Amino acid sequence: MLRRKDIVLLGATGSIGEHALRVVAAHPDRLRIRGIAARTNWRKLAAIAEQFSVPHAAIFDEAACREAKTSGCFAGRELHCGMEGLCAIGELPEADIVVSAVVGTTGLVPTLRAIEAGKDIALASKEILVLAGRFVMAAARRRSVRILPVDSEHNAIFQCLQGNGDPTPLRRLILTGSGGPFRGATSEALEAVTPERAQSHPIWSMGPKITVDSATMANKGLEMIEAYWLFGVEPEQIHVVVHPQSIVHSMVEFIDGSILAQLSPPDMTFAIQHALFFPERLNSFAETLDFTRSMQLDFEPPDPERFPCLRLARETLSAGGILPAAYNAANEIAVERFLDHNLRFTEISRVIEHTLNHLQNRTPTSVDDLLDADAEARRIAHTYGS
Ligand SMILES: NC(=O)c1ccc[n+]([C@@H]2O[C@H](COP(=O)([O-])OP(=O)(O)OC[C@H]3O[C@@H](n4cnc5c(N)ncnc54)[C@H](OP(=O)(O)O)[C@@H]3O)[C@@H](O)[C@H]2O)c1
Repeated sequence: MLRRKDIVLLGATGSIGEHALRVVAAHPDRLRIRGIAARTNWRKLAAIAEQFSVPHAAIFDEAACREAKTSGCFAGRELHCGMEGLCAIGELPEADIVVSAVVGTTGLVPTLRAIEAGKDIALASKEILVLAGRFVMAAARRRSVRILPVDSEHNAIFQCLQGNGDPTPLRRLILTGSGGPFRGATSEALEAVTPERAQSHPIWSMGPKITVDSATMANKGLEMIEAYWLFGVEPEQIHVVVHPQSIVHSMVEFIDGSILAQLSPPDMTFAIQHALFFPERLNSFAETLDFTRSMQLDFEPPDPERFPCLRLARETLSAGGILPAAYNAANEIAVERFLDHNLRFTEISRVIEHTLNHLQNRTPTSVDDLLDADAEARRIAHTYGS
């Protein structure tokens, strides 16, 4: 009899959360949810708790948490509030694995606490590794817990690396990216992009922040930094190629010139299911690739001129220190301002560049040091245009 895994879902109400719930619903005898968390959306969280009989929930926003408590919708369950609440459910003694899918960097502390409590992590939140990859990976090694990538590109690379030696004789990692909705757009057309148009991704259905990141290609930049920490390669070994169909999720080239790729439809349930069950493989429940119909797979180099976020990420990764954290923080501020109609699409990269130019780089000594750098970068990012 195969054991059932107990999971905690941080970011349960989001896009990754929804896909993870579909995986759980498809394997009720193998997965059970013990804790769920969100920022404010307590009504949706209560519905999830009810549907999946979840005993613990956490709401980050204190006011929303109070409202949820008085609503009675969580009667019979433990409802935790604030950052401590998120940490408490990540540390639940009965949990085997924590899905870290809070957008942005708020999930860093709960994820670190879950690692310290010995939980495996299914990691969707790339911002956590961009901010503090050195400390997250060190904590995972020290506690012998697994960081299992959920991001489809990194999950693909993780799959390609299995069984290929340790250390793996690899030459390079090739991250694929759809190129987003403005892949073929001219520089002039990019100047006129609105938040509404940036939200219409041609392939993936995701949360608002990552959808904008995908349109600017900052997402691929963040993923380069994420890959650096996850796979311990040199920055020059990480390459990016545009692949509009998003069927090849990424590739690994070995020193003998062979390339392994992982393919599946552009549906996050594949990567989530893989991460939750690794090293076991279970039947897929989603539609798989159909080779009885003709299919085209295109690859083209990205254009760093029209998509400067990619170039800035590479420079940031090479420089190291606190700059990756600053890149991420500045991008978050810029995307917020863009979504609020307070910044043009093409200014997102300029906010990042402005922030990187005004920050003195240094080697971070601790997570707190990085959180300080993150706060400093956010302050600088806000000064753009003033
Ligand atoms: N979506 C994808 O296909 C995809 C693919 C690869 C990687 N990722 C990564 O996965 C992460 C989540 O992305 P997403 O697309 O699922 O985002 P999303 O749809 O915007 O959902 C974000 C989730 O995080 C919660 N949240 C936000 N701030 C929080 C806080 N301070 N405390 C607790 N919970 C908080 C939200 O709760 P509320 O609903 O209450 O706001 C929601 O549950 C991101 O790091 C993204 O880069 C996503």
